[in-house]
Amino acid sequence: MNTAPDPSSVTFPGPVTVIGLGNLGKAIVGTLLRDGRPVTVWNRSPARAEPLLARGATAAATAAEAIASADLVIVALLGPPAAREVLTGAAGAVRGRALVNLTSGGPEDARELAAWAAERDADYLHGAVYAVPQTIGTAQSSITYSGSADTHRRWRAPLDLLGKVTFLGADAGHASGYDVAVLAGMYGMLGGFLHAAAMAKGAGISAAELTPMLVSWLTDSFPALATFAEEIDSGDYTSGESSLAMNAAGLQTIIRASQTQAIPAPTLVPLKSLIGRQVAEDHGSESLARVAELLRSGT
Ligand SMILES: NC(=O)c1ccc[n+]([C@@H]2O[C@H](COP(=O)([O-])OP(=O)(O)OC[C@H]3O[C@@H](n4cnc5c(N)ncnc54)[C@H](OP(=O)(O)O)[C@@H]3O)[C@@H](O)[C@H]2O)c1
Repeated sequence: MNTAPDPSSVTFPGPVTVIGLGNLGKAIVGTLLRDGRPVTVWNRSPARAEPLLARGATAAATAAEAIASADLVIVALLGPPAAREVLTGAAGAVRGRALVNLTSGGPEDARELAAWAAERDADYLHGAVYAVPQTIGTAQSSITYSGSADTHRRWRAPLDLLGKVTFLGADAGHASGYDVAVLAGMYGMLGGFLHAAAMAKGAGISAAELTPMLVSWLTDSFPALATFAEEIDSGDYTSGESSLAMNAAGLQTIIRASQTQAIPAPTLVPLKSLIGRQVAEDHGSESLARVAELLRSGT
């Protein structure tokens, strides 16, 4: 008798269930089906499953049935309340399952579900998706995970199919800790872009004309973030290369120019106010990065 393990069962240990067929869930199922993998799906609104059934997926009538039908369960729901509601509603089915939750949320949401899963003898791995549905399954997709190392190792083949895998350790909240911080940075940039586009329009420059110059300047500015990061981690802001006082003056100019065009500056005024407080406390010659200290203090 041949006792050697079937190589395909080692690299891809079995069928997969996907819970949630929104834009992300659909893209995940499509990627798995393209690779010839058996996939069971469940979605609150069953009609969303239909195009995937035509491509070979199997529909489950309930979330519990879907979870019971595969050892690996990928969850992609709108937000933490939906993930909590669906999983707790199917609690009887999760024992022995590897739950990979790609629903965006905060670190505390992931830790709460990981503890809930552990109480039911289920493994929990949380994933933060750095991709859009169109790039899932391509080299432009990257997903960072934290939580169950066993699930990350055992189910590496299907996870690899979805995008570049990075494992950040056993704390289920760690991937989300990175994610919400990265997204806070992204939205800060988007808020800045939208304000810039409104100001440019007011000055007779179209958003399309502005954007290449803005992108070029942002790209040239990115290395400064690493310098600011060193200052924040060391708590030494004395280099003062981009001083608080200089930035206060610069922001004041931009806010005034914006208001002259009757464009409010809701993304800039709070930053100006934080900088102003530090200047008032006699830190004007220190680095702009010192603002992070004020934010961390929560005052
Ligand atoms: N799309 C992206 O580019 C992207 C990228 C990174 C991360 N993410 C994250 O991935 C998650 C899913 O995103 P998405 O783009 O797929 O969202 P979406 O297209 O809006 O789909 C949301 C899904 O959640 C389901 N849902 C919402 N409330 C529910 C509830 N109370 N009970 C059961 N199901 C519920 C919806 O079911 P119905 O069909 O019944 O409404 C649908 O399947 C989000 O957390 C998102 O932040 C998305």
